[in-house]
Amino acid sequence: MLIKRRQGWEIPESQATPEGIFLNRRAFLSGTAALGASIATSAMLPGRARAETDPSAHLYPAERNEAFVLDRAVTPEEINSTYNNFYEFGSHKQIYTYAQKLPIRPWEVRIDGMVDEEMTLGIDELLARVSLEERLYRHRCVEAWAMAIPWSGFALADLVRIASPKAGAKYLAMETFFNPDVASGQRQSWNPWPYTEAVTMAEATNDLAFLVTGAYGKPLAKQFGAPLRLALPWKYGFKSIKSIVRFTFTDVRPQSFWEKIGPSEYGFWANVNPDVPHPRWSQASERILGTNETVPTQLFNGYGEQVAGMYAGLDGEKLFM
Ligand code: MTE
Repeated sequence: MLIKRRQGWEIPESQATPEGIFLNRRAFLSGTAALGASIATSAMLPGRARAETDPSAHLYPAERNEAFVLDRAVTPEEINSTYNNFYEFGSHKQIYTYAQKLPIRPWEVRIDGMVDEEMTLGIDELLARVSLEERLYRHRCVEAWAMAIPWSGFALADLVRIASPKAGAKYLAMETFFNPDVASGQRQSWNPWPYTEAVTMAEATNDLAFLVTGAYGKPLAKQFGAPLRLALPWKYGFKSIKSIVRFTFTDVRPQSFWEKIGPSEYGFWANVNPDVPHPRWSQASERILGTNETVPTQLFNGYGEQVAGMYAGLDGEKLFM
């Protein structure tokens, strides 16, 4: 039985953004009607044509899981989908036009390493083996800006179950596509492409770890990391790897893309903590995209109740960078 209770990461109404600027929260919580309105306003957004032709379009909107709702306004789609980090398509925020070049069918996902049987699944085959739901999540970039997003997808734990890892597996590494012909950023040979990320098995099977296949009630737009990206809302956004093509189970801690580029600034754990500054800026507060309101940052981005236990006893680790 689902017991609805106020979660630690639901911020107070006083910090919610003005109704005139953001979607009306009550209308939003009423579900598909509001999503319909949001989709209507998004008629001119990049990625709309894709939603019409996507073979998985019939799976959306997915039913919202009310255990993962926010007491704050959702960032309007037109803001979220035109302000993105996706370095494969450029190091600025307006990559959305360039990202439309990414072909997302066929799209194969390889599962290998320490598993009972290595496998390759087409994205639609994978979607047929899981059930999708919608969750409202916070999203906190290491650059100190934040959004709130209605992601659709399935628990990363479901993928772990499908993969059936061996008992000795300690980490799950993930990899983005590599195609410099469509992603010109990948021609920058000084960067360690493809983009990679990794989590521990405890993190991979935590309830909050979510594989995202859709947003705003429809298939994921390319700039968000279609057709499959990660969302780890208690960690800085760079851990949420986009456009994943490979999952590898291993017993050796992998080094991720940003860790290889700047090991003194970006670590393996990257848990959000207002009291641990980035070497070049404070993490004490964050700017809410859309209103430009500045609000205090919360430990584990407000999700401490669900995740803090995983880090007990890891005192020697740099858990917050
Ligand atoms: N994944 C890939 N493959 N390439 C990237 O450049 N950027 C990361 C993360 N995942 C990135 C990525 C960073 S720094 C952030 S903050 C989030 O994606 C941004 O997600 P958004 O564009 O949906 O806000």
